[in-house]
Amino acid sequence: MIPQGQRVIVLQNEDEMADFMIKKWVEVSQAAIEREGFFSAALSGGKTPVPLYQKLALFKKGLDWEKTHIFLVDERFVPFHHPDSNYHMLKDTFLDQVPIPRQNIHPVPAGEATAEIAARKYEEDLRTFFKSSPGKIPDVDLILLGMGEDGHTASLFPGRLPFNEPGQLVAAVMLDEMRHNRITLTLPVINQAKTIIFLVTGKNKAEVLGKVIYKKDSTLPASLVAPKMGNLIFLSDLEASSQLSYHKEGSQGDACRNCCRPRRL
Ligand code: 6PG
Repeated sequence: MIPQGQRVIVLQNEDEMADFMIKKWVEVSQAAIEREGFFSAALSGGKTPVPLYQKLALFKKGLDWEKTHIFLVDERFVPFHHPDSNYHMLKDTFLDQVPIPRQNIHPVPAGEATAEIAARKYEEDLRTFFKSSPGKIPDVDLILLGMGEDGHTASLFPGRLPFNEPGQLVAAVMLDEMRHNRITLTLPVINQAKTIIFLVTGKNKAEVLGKVIYKKDSTLPASLVAPKMGNLIFLSDLEASSQLSYHKEGSQGDACRNCCRPRRL
C-alpha cells in the first residue's frame, strides 16, 4: 500500500510530467506569493528535470519571476562555467531565458576555496534570505528532487550521509576522486519544505522507486524524505513505476485515483 501523506502520480512520459509540473509550479507559486509575497523553489540538477526547465524557459510571461527566488538543492564543487555545474545547466536551460532578477537567483558559491567554505557561505545566504536565526529551519515553498539508482537524492548518498549539526542547513559532501565533491541541502531543510516533488523516470529507476515508496530500505537517503507538514509527491513515468503494485490501465494521473485503489500488499 502506498504510505499515507504521499502521492504517487504516474504519467506516460517526461513530457507529460513536465506539463504536470508547470501546472503545479503555477499553483504553488501563486499560493506562496499570495501568502508571503514571494515564492521560493530549490531545484535539483541531473538529467530528469531538464524537460521541465526547458518548458519553464518558455514562460516569459504568466509566471511572476519578480517574486520568484531560485535556490539549488545541491551543487557539484566545480566552477560555474564547468559543464558539470548544476547552476550552469539551470542558467542554460531556463534562467537566462526568463525575466528573473539576477538577485533572485541563489547559486551555491562553488568558487570558494573548499566545499566546506562554500557550504557555510550558502547557509548564510539561506539564513539571510529566509530571516532564519541559528537553529531555525527555513521552509522552502517547493523542493524538486531527483533520485539515483542507488537511492541517493540531492547529494545525500547511501553510506555517506553528511553528519549535520542540529539546525544545519547545508553540508559539504566529500566523494571519491572520481566524483566531484558536493554541497547539499540537508534533510532537515528538505523535510521542512511545503511541497516536495520527486521526478523519476526510466526502467533503471523502477526497483529503487519501489523500495523508496514502500519504505523498504531506510539506508536509501531518498527514503528519509518525509516532509513534516508539507506534501510529498512522487511523479514518475510508466517505466519507472513498473514495480509499483497498482492497476495501470486507464491511469490518467494519480495512481488510478478514480478507477481503483492501490492494492494492499
Ligand atoms: C545532482 C542531483 C542528483 C540527481 C540524481 C538523479 O546534482 O546530480 O541533484 O541528486 O537528482 O543524481 O539524476 P538524474 O536525473 O540525472 O538521473
